[in-house]
This record gives sequence, structure tokens and C-alpha cells, in this order.
Amino acid sequence: MIYLDNAATTLKKPDCVVAAVTEALCNMGNSSRGTHDSSLKSARAVFAARSSLAKLFNAPGPEQVVFTQNSTEALNMALCGLFCKGDHVITTALEHNSVLRPLYRLEDEGVISLSVVPADRQGRPDYDAFSRLIRPETRAIVCTHASNLTGNVMDLERVGAIAKSHGLLLVVDASQTAGAYPIDMKRMNISVLCFTGHKGLMGPQGTGGMCLARDVRIRPFKVGGSGVQSYSRAHPAEMPTRLEAGTLNGHGIAGLGAGVDYILEKGVDAIHAYEIALAKHFYEGVRDIPGVTVYGDFTNWNRTAVVTLNIGDYDSGAVSDALWEDFGIATRPGAHCAPLMHHALGTAEQGAVRFSFALFNTLDEADAAIAAVKELAQCD
Ligand SMILES: Cc1ncc(COP(=O)(O)O)c(C=O)c1O
Repeated sequence: MIYLDNAATTLKKPDCVVAAVTEALCNMGNSSRGTHDSSLKSARAVFAARSSLAKLFNAPGPEQVVFTQNSTEALNMALCGLFCKGDHVITTALEHNSVLRPLYRLEDEGVISLSVVPADRQGRPDYDAFSRLIRPETRAIVCTHASNLTGNVMDLERVGAIAKSHGLLLVVDASQTAGAYPIDMKRMNISVLCFTGHKGLMGPQGTGGMCLARDVRIRPFKVGGSGVQSYSRAHPAEMPTRLEAGTLNGHGIAGLGAGVDYILEKGVDAIHAYEIALAKHFYEGVRDIPGVTVYGDFTNWNRTAVVTLNIGDYDSGAVSDALWEDFGIATRPGAHCAPLMHHALGTAEQGAVRFSFALFNTLDEADAAIAAVKELAQCD
């Protein structure tokens, strides 16, 4: 199999991740629930993972890193725990449903009003619209760092500067960039950074979280067992326990920590450069094939390693099936949970086929994918 669906989840994980999960499964107890060796082992692995994530994202400190099941849970916790009745929120057409649906629900419940920054046919956001849409009651900008459909990266320094100058919160969905593209919470003025563990961070599924700037307070979504202050009626107010209740996914977090350490050792810039070289090679091999339409902004390579295309009028699902059945190439067709982006690109009906590259892919695999697209396009 040639696995080019890394934007959905990275299939191949570094050996150290597999080893860390195995070790954790065999030896780890419940973090913060005792002073015996196995519990301490778990607490240390969890703390080490928080520290590594804080380093990777330049977050204020390990205690500002909260673990969740995935970025969807982190985004729901952040969006439902930040806003109050009457708040106005700005989001963008690049968003995944894990941003849009919580915001739509808050809007439908009459809690917030919502404005959307539009995108053009290349999937580029209208940056001027961020300032234009700000009102006196605007509380936050909520945006993705990169489109999961086109691979276009949002200029977060620009958006962060707008948020800062108007005193707005900036909540970022880093699902497509964490581990694969440089992120600096402080330089980008990010208030809440939501990440998922199983994509670019190369950890197990069931891991993710958020990093909070020091001054950001989120109403806890869940309360319960914390291992500390058990006689208090209220859940502990201290971070990170404030936003974590119940037994953590210690086994998964141990694997996530190993993945982040692996990334820190390799360097995000080096990982990004390698992945982009593969995506560029693929893009240059397919862009001029008659019948092929590639979506997104390829005027520069400040992007993620995603190349999304269609062949003629073929349904994207049929093309993705043929890639798999006839060539053993795994891709992702359809809507990618990004409805507004498909509308902007004009692909809502057809969907599109997404090829996404990661660290363990090779140039030979990119060449095989180019050849497969060529062959399928000839049938058009
Ligand atoms: C941009 C973006 N946001 C959010 C998510 C949700 O990630 P998870 O399913 O890990 O919560 C994804 C996953 O595909 C994504 O690509």
C-alpha cells in the first residue's frame, strides 16, 4: 500500500512511539492517583509530554497544556467554555466542522453571533475581512492554521496581530499543522491552540489537547475525579487539572510524548521541508495532466503537504476508489468535513481527491501516484 492519507491520520508512527505505548501498557498505572512506582511512572510520562508540547508550540509552560481525546474535543471545550451571551465571533470559510458545528450550535442557541471571513477560488482567505467584520461586541477570532482540504496555510502572525490590536482572543485549530509546520504561540499571539495527537504529531489516536495563554480562563466542560482536593465540592481550579477530569489516556499520552520528542529531535522545519519536497514533486507531476484540476494556492510553498485534485467530471469517490483498487494508493475523497471550503472552490458536488504526504513517504511513492493519476486521466 502507498498511504497518502496522512492529513486524516498518520499511519506509520516512529518506532519510539510504538515502544512508548507498549512500555506504558505493560508498566503504567494511573497518573496522579498514588505514590507507587507505576502511578508515578504514569505521572512522569504525562508531565514529560506536557513539557515537550509546551516546548514545541512555545506555550507558556507545561501546566498550560491540557489533554483531551482529540482536537474536536479541545475545540468544543474551548468554544463552549469561552463565550457568553452576546459575544460576536469571527471564523473563516477554511474551517473544519469541528470548528463550524460548535459555533453554529452556539449561534442557534442564541449565545453568540457569527461572521465568516470568505475565501476565493484558490481557497485563500480575505485577510482584510478580519478587521472589517470586527464589532464592539466581538470577542474572538477562531480559525484554522491550515485548510485540511487545500493545504493553504493561514498567516497567523497577521491574524494574531489583528486580534491583539483589537483585544480579541485568537483560538486556533492546529489539527493540520501541529508537528508538521512551525507554531509559536507567543509570536502568533495565540490565546488557545487546539491540536490533535494522531496526525502530524505522530501519536496514537485518542490523544490531543489544547495549550492556553496564561490569561485565558475556560469554563470547565467536565468535572469529577482529579486525584487531589477530594473533599472539596468544586473541581480544582488550578491548571491543568481545572480542565481535566477522570483518568487520562496515559498510554496514549506516553506515545504522544514520544512522537513530540521525535519531532523536536528531527526539527519541525526539517520535517516540513521533507514533506513539502514530496508534495511539490507530486504537484509538478500532475498539474499539467490534461483533465486534472488542482485546488489551492501554489504560488508559494508556505503550505502543508496536501495536494487536492479532480479528474475531469469524475466523482471524487470513484477516483479515490480506483486509486485504491487498481493502484493500492490510499487517498481521501468527498467533502473532508470542510463544507464552506468546498463551496468556495466550487467542488461541493464533485468533492475532491486529497493526497497528503508525511515523513515516512518517499519520492518513489509520489512518482507512483503521479503515474496513477496520469493513467486515470487518460480514461477521461
Ligand atoms: C482542520 C481540522 N480540524 C479538526 C479536525 C478534527 O480532528 P480530530 O478528528 O482528531 O478531532 C481535523 C481532522 O481531520 C482537521 O483536519
